[in-house]
Amino acid sequence: SLQCQLRGLWRNEQDSLMEISAVRDNGEFQGKYLTQVTLAGGCARASPLTGAQQQPSEGGWPTFTFTVRWDKFSNATTAFAGQCFLDTGGKETLTTMWLLREAVGSLEEDWKATRVGRNVFTRKRTPKG
Ligand code: BTN
Repeated sequence: SLQCQLRGLWRNEQDSLMEISAVRDNGEFQGKYLTQVTLAGGCARASPLTGAQQQPSEGGWPTFTFTVRWDKFSNATTAFAGQCFLDTGGKETLTTMWLLREAVGSLEEDWKATRVGRNVFTRKRTPKG
């Protein structure tokens, strides 16, 4: 199909895994995120994500945002914004930019508390149905 669906299991270039469950009629979705890298270098735990897609009226390639709460192992949080694309071979790609906010102990340290980056996700498994 020419459509790009967010639902399913995705992997990014850092080998992090993301599973997005069903997208609701109003565009909202939830899922789980397992990062392969952490600020502290320790082990990650599966973390809840929540977001919304903005479906263009023609159908097509939605933009989206979601946030991940790393609350099982970290005080940090990340906000992602991106778009779902189909390449000419029909392969789905999510291109995103993210802001990673870590907790710091004082206002004087606020300047170093936010990182920015890019992640590209490809589909690991196609959902059934
Ligand atoms: C932490 O280490 O305190 C939280 C985990 C942060 C993981 C970041 S979010 C942006 C980037 N993309 C990933 O898949 N992992 C890192």
